[in-house]
Amino acid sequence: MNNGFVIKGNICQTKSPKELDLHEGAFAVCVDGLSRGVFGTLPEEYACLPLYDYGDALIFPGMVDLHVHAPQYAFRGTSMDLELMDWLNRYTFPEEEKYEDLEYAERAYGMFVDALKRGATARSCIFATRHRYATELLMQQMEDSGLVSYVGKVNMDREASSTLTEDSADISAYTTFGWINAVKDKFKNTKPILTPRFIPCCTDKLMEELREIQMTYGIPVQSHLSESRGEIDFVKILRPDNPFYGDSYNEYDLFGKNDDTNTDVKTVMAHCVWSTDEEIELMRKNGVFVAHCPASNINLTSGIAPIRKYLELGLNIGFGSDVAGGHSESMFRAITDAIWVSKMYFRMVDEAYKPLVFSEAFYLATKGGGAFFGKAGSFEEGYEFDAVIMDDGVIPHPQSLTLAERMERAVYLGLDEKNITAKFVAGRKVI
Ligand code: GUN
Ligand code: FE
Repeated sequence: MNNGFVIKGNICQTKSPKELDLHEGAFAVCVDGLSRGVFGTLPEEYACLPLYDYGDALIFPGMVDLHVHAPQYAFRGTSMDLELMDWLNRYTFPEEEKYEDLEYAERAYGMFVDALKRGATARSCIFATRHRYATELLMQQMEDSGLVSYVGKVNMDREASSTLTEDSADISAYTTFGWINAVKDKFKNTKPILTPRFIPCCTDKLMEELREIQMTYGIPVQSHLSESRGEIDFVKILRPDNPFYGDSYNEYDLFGKNDDTNTDVKTVMAHCVWSTDEEIELMRKNGVFVAHCPASNINLTSGIAPIRKYLELGLNIGFGSDVAGGHSESMFRAITDAIWVSKMYFRMVDEAYKPLVFSEAFYLATKGGGAFFGKAGSFEEGYEFDAVIMDDGVIPHPQSLTLAERMERAVYLGLDEKNITAKFVAGRKVI
């Protein structure tokens, strides 16, 4: 056996939301890009594999970011004074217009990809802009980084500035066909995902054409759903016949399932802050993933998504950084932010829904979101081998700590932004 390796250190993961799964000085084995499991003593059959001994370091599964806007990375941490619809018009659309210029795109996307690579994120679902060639450039950069991603050329044929809005539904669809044909078999780790921006930006005709494209290629779908009150009111005016927002994606078979062909349409919807019971039930039934983006929901004054309720109902859930609605690409921050807002929801909104605990939030940032990529976010046998290695000695402590304390502290104190010493994605060493 010569197509694998072993890493050794303090392995911390969550096989289930309810408890941490901790292994001091243990071995994680990777063969052909997949995990063979975690072992206290290394089985004889793997003794011939090369060993990376990380000593007393912490080893986590790679994080999964289910919702992030690459072209918004440049203005993250600024422009936080407006709610969604005004924020889009005032700050976001003008920034995204710049990606017509490939030189700008290359520079700005380069910074985004660098940051993602240096951090704890292994896999992500990325919005680009509506520009085909800048999107292809981003996909090449993502592929070169060694990270795994779905990347979407955005579709939008109304309700933005004239330079950012595509000229017609036909042109949007035609460009999307060209883009998918160019990229679908080009990369190993970087795949296209259909990306209607959200209902306010997509005419009925465009949605109809996107349905055709989805059926032609069978690719997954990402969009925004029930994020902000102003947005939802606008959708009610635009789509008066749909009983709830999500139904206007479902009508075009872009909401987890195609009812005509009875096939799955893998779908992730960002936010779901204000989803009605009917909408939640359809998400559950169709297996739609919720990308919970707590920092963005605070920054844009959108609200708090009832994640405990979604967990209890058995929805598919992961976290999104939603840069630049969210100001940081760190999924460690997303974990702590999700716990924070769940505490506020419990205290201020509804005490029937208990706050998230650390193991639950860690699970959602790894295995929860990882399910969108198949089997990812864990070192259990058969999972894609994504690992982040960190030395928490850089954050001193006067006493010795348990491994559980070290794990939680690493997340809360942002060790991903301080000291990642090595990283593996899909069995390949990227740092
Ligand atoms: N809804 C439509 N576009 C966007 C976007 O760029 N960011 C967020 N947070 N919501 C959106
Ligand atoms: Fe978003």
